[in-house]
Amino acid sequence: MNATFKNDVDLGLSAPTKYLPSKYFYDKKGDALFVEIMNMPEYYLTDAEHDIFKNQTLNLISALKINKTINFDLIELGAGDGIKTKELLKTLKQLGFKFTFIPVDISQNALNNLEKTIKKELPYISMNTKQGDYFNVLEDIKWFQKPKVILFLGSNIGNLKDGKAKEFIHKLSLALNVNDKVILGADLIKPKSIVLPAYNDSKGITKRFNINLLERINRELNANFDLNNFKHQPEYNEKEGIAKSFLVSTKKQNVEIGALNKTFTFYKNERIHTENSRKYNDTIIEDITKVSKLKIIDKLTDSKNYFADYILEKTAE
Ligand SMILES: C[S@@+](CC[C@H](N)C(=O)[O-])C[C@H]1O[C@@H](n2cnc3c(N)ncnc32)[C@H](O)[C@@H]1O
Repeated sequence: MNATFKNDVDLGLSAPTKYLPSKYFYDKKGDALFVEIMNMPEYYLTDAEHDIFKNQTLNLISALKINKTINFDLIELGAGDGIKTKELLKTLKQLGFKFTFIPVDISQNALNNLEKTIKKELPYISMNTKQGDYFNVLEDIKWFQKPKVILFLGSNIGNLKDGKAKEFIHKLSLALNVNDKVILGADLIKPKSIVLPAYNDSKGITKRFNINLLERINRELNANFDLNNFKHQPEYNEKEGIAKSFLVSTKKQNVEIGALNKTFTFYKNERIHTENSRKYNDTIIEDITKVSKLKIIDKLTDSKNYFADYILEKTAE
């Protein structure tokens, strides 16, 4: 059993406003459900960023200003199934660039699946996987000697509150050398009628994804959450620009978590906050990056203007 998981669950469920960190969605079942979510028509984020990676691959590559004669590390933080990244890998190789692909993910299962598909579809790619929380992995990649291109796609950054996102970007910047680049994928601010369904698909996959967090606590921490007594509740406040997911207790109930030797009380309608998905514009991205030495040097958007990939460069100043 993972001691950090146990600790984080204890902290989150003991807080006055209960929460659970979204990084724990991704176990074997959660990974598979997330792939299903990405295939749902409502989840526009993947299609929009895929549009950029598939149809503007050359623009993306030229924005990175990579020296063709030098070997570099292409490091993806929170790689997942890597569908979009494969477009980039393929074209980089076709153009004769020399690099090692290093996907990082908290889920070993996601990395195993990704490795399998890359070996099958793109066997000529040199690849080393790295399991871990990307906050911690930044400490290791700091020591990598080659030039780096970091991919942080899928608006993963939106899971972090703005203060934490600033801290992350600052830490990322410290892990890079001057001229290293970052592709930062960000979901753009848009109306509620488009955003909210992405977190509340008609087939209920997102609901199962959210509830799986409680199932995981049952499985791994010997708890007795009755899954029928919690419902999925997404919300999106246009003014704030943050989609939030909650699990709501439908009645007053006690839940025992064996691994913690504790009982937690949930009141009727009490919520557990499980995820934030922030939406962005240039001003917010500029604000988040301005604390660091990562400067925005380019930006590519999809044909619908739903999503942006910002190209950041580590500068000396
Ligand atoms: C929303 S998915 C996005 C996947 C991919 N980046 C994309 O754009 O399709 C998030 C991925 O990041 C991983 N992840 C989430 N939190 C993480 C963390 N703190 N450290 C490392 N990986 C994390 C998950 O396991 C999952 O594979």
